[in-house]
Amino acid sequence: MIRKAKQKPPNLTIDLAGISLRNPVMVASGTFGYGEEYAELIDLNRLGAIVTKTITLKPRLGNEPPRIVETASGILNSIGLQNVGINAFIDEKLPFLREYDVPLIVSIAGETPDEYVELAKTLREEKIEGLELNLSCPNIKYDRKLMFAQDPKATHRVVSRVRKATNLPLIVKLSPNVTDIAFIAKMCEEAGADGISLINTFVGMAIDVESGEPMLHQITGGLSGPAIKPIAVRMVYEVHKSVEIPIIGMGGIITAGDALEFIIAGAKAVAIGTGNFVDPRAPIKVIDGIREHMIKNKIKDIKSMVGSLKCPKGSL
Ligand SMILES: Cc1cc2nc3c(=O)[nH]c(=O)nc-3n(C[C@H](O)[C@H](O)[C@H](O)COP(=O)(O)O)c2cc1C
Repeated sequence: MIRKAKQKPPNLTIDLAGISLRNPVMVASGTFGYGEEYAELIDLNRLGAIVTKTITLKPRLGNEPPRIVETASGILNSIGLQNVGINAFIDEKLPFLREYDVPLIVSIAGETPDEYVELAKTLREEKIEGLELNLSCPNIKYDRKLMFAQDPKATHRVVSRVRKATNLPLIVKLSPNVTDIAFIAKMCEEAGADGISLINTFVGMAIDVESGEPMLHQITGGLSGPAIKPIAVRMVYEVHKSVEIPIIGMGGIITAGDALEFIIAGAKAVAIGTGNFVDPRAPIKVIDGIREHMIKNKIKDIKSMVGSLKCPKGSL
């Protein structure tokens, strides 16, 4: 009798900017709150990492409703960074998240570079694994009109100042609302970022034709979900060619196949955002689906898939 050699389970672990992840599947900022509600629905310990809702210095109530509207294969949101503020986050939310054995990346945003620095300094002593600088929220009013991530110089300035203020792994979340995302990513790398998260939402709008009014109180909002996935994959592909630091890819991931597209395009990790609203088990299904794909295709290590895109001869 010929015995089939037992295949070793595939290796899904990755090192992301110095953070050890048991698998590359994370949850995206703002779509998972502070983990409390989801903890009743899924085992948080199975996730690669959790990125918190973006935290600001002061609590924010967010924008006036309506602030979410469904569109074809996506949603538009104008939440406006509703959050409890850094002090309540540390006192009330962090202890709960720390009950779990899952890397925690805290997303922060300020209106000025000084505010980003203050947030980073405040979190220096806390037990967290990394910081994500949200330079790309489309739903708040900036003095300068542009988001930081739409201005390469401003991006460089904020990232280098926060870099000096913390030793924590520093991930920068970029906006797709730019002409050349690869150039902005390069600025982040030069300023000392350890990783790049992309993409945040696309600015969009929807109109009620009966009333002639915008569907969102804020008029415009950020588009997310499957509608944006092909653009997000293209942006990951472009950024992968321009920087050495790891990329966390996101934008419309619902299935393992979606996540694999991002990984093949160059993302070392992926994050599920809007998919959590459709199915809270989406991240778990994506993890299991990636593993099944690896077993089926005899892929031993997820790292071998990162940026493994095979371009036909003669393509650009
Ligand atoms: C309701 C909602 C709230 C969000 N809040 C944040 C946030 O606070 N900080 C942030 O960096 N991104 C935020 N995002 C953007 C997501 O993290 C993600 O980058 C984007 O939605 C694309 O991924 P997706 O298509 O999988 O949702 C939010 C997205 C949604 C839909």
